Amino acid sequence: MRPSSALVLAFAASTVAQDQVLLVDKLKGWFAQATAAVSSAVPAAASSPVASGRAKAAESIQHELTLENWKETLTVDPSVSTPTTQEWLVYITGGNATCFGFCGNTTKAWNTSLPLLAAKPNPPKFAVIDCDAQPVLCNSWSVGPPSLYYFQIPKPLADQSAPAATVRYQPLNRTSTTTDTLKKLVLDNELENVVPYEGYFHPFNGPLQQYGLAVPLAYVIWGFSKMPSWLPMILISFMSRTIMGRRGQGPAPRAAAQPAQ
Ligand SMILES: *[C@@H]1O[C@H](CO)[C@@H](O)[C@H](O)[C@H]1NC(C)=O
Ligand SMILES: *[C@@H]1O[C@H](CO)[C@@H](O)[C@H](O)[C@H]1NC(C)=O
Ligand SMILES: *[C@@H]1O[C@H](CO)[C@@H](O)[C@H](O)[C@H]1NC(C)=O
Ligand SMILES: *[C@@H]1O[C@H](CO)[C@@H](O)[C@H](O)[C@H]1NC(C)=O
Repeated sequence: MRPSSALVLAFAASTVAQDQVLLVDKLKGWFAQATAAVSSAVPAAASSPVASGRAKAAESIQHELTLENWKETLTVDPSVSTPTTQEWLVYITGGNATCFGFCGNTTKAWNTSLPLLAAKPNPPKFAVIDCDAQPVLCNSWSVGPPSLYYFQIPKPLADQSAPAATVRYQPLNRTSTTTDTLKKLVLDNELENVVPYEGYFHPFNGPLQQYGLAVPLAYVIWGFSKMPSWLPMILISFMSRTIMGRRGQGPAPRAAAQPAQ
């Protein structure tokens, strides 16, 4: 059974509505940035010259996720028999484009905390996403910096079927996040109290991922953030193309197939 076009459209409509909250946040930041007269169309530089010992330590512990590698990275190491569930803690950060330059203090706290968090018994694996460098990945998950995404990924069963992964999303306060905040969340297990996310943008089980819509939609949302007036056109074009593509595999409607003349 294929999802009907109406269902797909309904998903799109409601996810766009859901994303308004994120957009409002983005807009506020954009205005703050514009007011400070630092707006610039130049994409963020790929690397920063900061090479402190702290950065080096952080680098050796955490994996850097991209749109291409996240699915292979966020898995259970098949060579270990235990634990049967692999925990991944993903720190989502950004620079001037996605965090409006406000993520520095939070990232510093994260970098400083990492060695401590890694020293806890049964530590999770750590990863980082820079939304400035990976805007499409961040949009396809509908996440924004600074935040934590905590994954509990069960090992696939003997028949290769994978039980559902549990994901918890915790936004971090840009101004008040310290090493103590991270200690409470991770070492004191406060993250476990966060209600698991089960919406459309769930990276593993969400309908958008399952129907291959998360990434196209992410491009649309990213495009919208760059060029607001284009959204309706791009959205409609993307959605109808996706629906046509799916339709093409089913029986075509007769009337539409007839030549016009
Ligand atoms: C971010 O903006 C600040 C000014 O607000 C500027 O000094 C800095 O170079 C910018 N960073 C990047 C990577 O563009
Ligand atoms: C944090 O660590 C990363 C390396 O993982 C480094 O690129 C970044 O500059 C560091 N940031 C701060 C604020 O220390
Ligand atoms: C980061 O910390 C410094 C020093 O504590 C503070 O002056 C600055 O306002 C903070 N930046 C943000 C974005 O909170
Ligand atoms: C972030 O922390 C500051 C200072 O503690 C507080 O004033 C602000 O309301 C917090 N923001 C959010 C979104 O919780």
